[in-house]
Amino acid sequence: MDVIQAITGRRNVKSFKPDPVDEQKILSWLETASYAPNHRMTEPWEIHFLGAQTREQIAHKNDFGGAPTVLAIVSTPAKSTVDRDEHLQAATCFVQNFLLAAYAEGVGTGWASIGWSPRVHEILGLGPAHEIIAILPVGYPTEWPEMKPRTEISAKVHRLP
Ligand SMILES: Cc1cc2nc3c(=O)[nH]c(=O)nc-3n(C[C@H](O)[C@H](O)[C@H](O)COP(=O)(O)O)c2cc1C
Repeated sequence: MDVIQAITGRRNVKSFKPDPVDEQKILSWLETASYAPNHRMTEPWEIHFLGAQTREQIAHKNDFGGAPTVLAIVSTPAKSTVDRDEHLQAATCFVQNFLLAAYAEGVGTGWASIGWSPRVHEILGLGPAHEIIAILPVGYPTEWPEMKPRTEISAKVHRLP
């Protein structure tokens, strides 16, 4: 699969089969994801594998669609707001790389944004300086969702003099 097919074909998956995904594969996609751009090589991401007890505590509405693996991607704290924003941006690039690497090998991912919640921060043992970029269920989809059409890009393009 080429990169264009991966970018356009990836979907946000909400329901997963219980079949486990090989953890070595997940680690290899995380390794791939770490080639994301990041300013001054801060590599401002951390990955938490959420175990059964943590998932139970979070009590997500459908337990992340029954995904066999759930990851939380966290950006590392920073001393200034500029650095904080750059860490968020780099860690988000990391997330997208991971989603694409998994999809390219037939594995689906979702994106839950409940990391904004102070309760989830506390369950993950993180202080307020850590930003939870995404909680990512990972697994084989029960079905691949339909593609959601995008706005024609010309409507978003601005040309400055
Ligand atoms: C920052 C961010 C937060 C998101 N949070 C959620 C979420 O909480 N729940 C959810 O179902 N999808 C969430 N999504 C996924 C979007 O709903 C999904 O990407 C969008 O509907 C487009 O679908 P597609 O990814 O299949 O193209 C989030 C995506 C981003 C980038």
